[in-house]
Amino acid sequence: MADGAFELGRAQRDKEARERAYSIPLSQIHVADPELWITDTHWPYFERLRKEDPVHWCEVDEEMGGYWSVTKFNDIMEVDTNHQVFSSDAFKGGITLRNFDEDFVLPMFIAMDPPKHDVQRKTVSPIVSPASLMQLEPIIRERAAGLLDSLPVGETFNWVDKISIELTTQMLATLFDFPWEDRRKLTRWSDVATAIPGNGIIETEEQRREELFECVDYFTRLWNERVNSEPKHDLISMLAHGESTRNMDRMEYLGNLILLIVGGNDTTRNSLSGGLLFLNQNPKEYDKLRADPSLIPSMVSEIIRYQTPLAYMRRTALEDYVLNGKTIRKGEKVAMWYVSGNRDDEVIDRPNEFIIDRERPRHHMSFGFGIHRCVGNRLAEMQLRVVWEEILKRYPVIDVVGEPRRVYSSFVKGYEELPVRIPARV
Ligand code: HEM
Repeated sequence: MADGAFELGRAQRDKEARERAYSIPLSQIHVADPELWITDTHWPYFERLRKEDPVHWCEVDEEMGGYWSVTKFNDIMEVDTNHQVFSSDAFKGGITLRNFDEDFVLPMFIAMDPPKHDVQRKTVSPIVSPASLMQLEPIIRERAAGLLDSLPVGETFNWVDKISIELTTQMLATLFDFPWEDRRKLTRWSDVATAIPGNGIIETEEQRREELFECVDYFTRLWNERVNSEPKHDLISMLAHGESTRNMDRMEYLGNLILLIVGGNDTTRNSLSGGLLFLNQNPKEYDKLRADPSLIPSMVSEIIRYQTPLAYMRRTALEDYVLNGKTIRKGEKVAMWYVSGNRDDEVIDRPNEFIIDRERPRHHMSFGFGIHRCVGNRLAEMQLRVVWEEILKRYPVIDVVGEPRRVYSSFVKGYEELPVRIPARV
């Protein structure tokens, strides 16, 4: 890092977190508490759970209610690949731990079980076919290049806003064929959909609903234009003409829009920020990359593992099930903590280290497993690869010059701010 001052503060904070994580009773460990995520102090709690209580019950949060935390790689796989027992259905609770108001359930195919899930997923899959990715690559490259060329040199700026948000928003606008000048609306709707009220983005649930209704109204206009013309290769046209999606009601359309907006936005955005942070925290890896840019594809996978942009997915048990010796009862909530599975040293070698030339870099859980495995994984990897290729061509050094500000959420693991500076060349 260019300025090591803030590293001292971090060391102290990590030490205190570790002491606390190992001194409180196991039953008090509540890894879904957003405070642990905004301070980046969740790591020792997961470490202890993996060792002492890998399938862990917690009921300290009244609002959230009781939930299981599954923290080992193989146990997570067991849950994620068993959709017959572990449901994603929005009407049973969906994929996040927070309870939503029953009168505002948003059906979306990530929060559906078969058979409906399967047909809706199939409807949008062509957007990430190999042929589609080949078409998208030069567009993404050109836009990334233009944006990178406009960066200020020798000045501190927020990488999250200038690069991560802008590039992923541009890609999303391309996938939806969304009016270019309005593309920041997509960023806003993505943030609104996942924010916890009272934390700066929205104040109340009411506000969330109002803004999301604006979102669906906007997209309904686009739907109406496209449903009456020939099918095209964009997500709205695919939904409007798809057999399993053309009759969706307003809430299901909104739900699937939010899925595609958040799926394609927050995750890649936070990988773009995380990658730069990790290279700065690991200068030897940064040197390796500069010496050999052909490492970019494996680095991209390592970034996605190390960041784990979606920390967990939740399921609801449809029947009693014994997992690693613990009985999960029908109806109970189960969180599969990918972020912890990705640090399981029984499956991943030296998991706490960021190593850009790992032997099996794609061996991680960040995209999930089973029928809901991320549909956009190849697109995300391609985008990150292209952006890093363009970055390295222009800027061999980008310094992180202050602590990142993290997102207040245990679901979306990411950054609000990452102060950086591109040194002027001498
Ligand atoms: C599903 C992660 C990028 C669209 C998922 C799941 C995860 C995930 C964890 C759920 C897996 C499960 O439940 O087993 C990520 C990460 C990304 C990323 C880490 C980037 C680094 C994208 C992009 C898109 C996308 C770019 C864009 C189009 C989706 C969709 C689903 C999904 C539509 C639902 C799939 C289903 O239910 O069948 N993603 N994602 N994701 N992702 Fe991604």
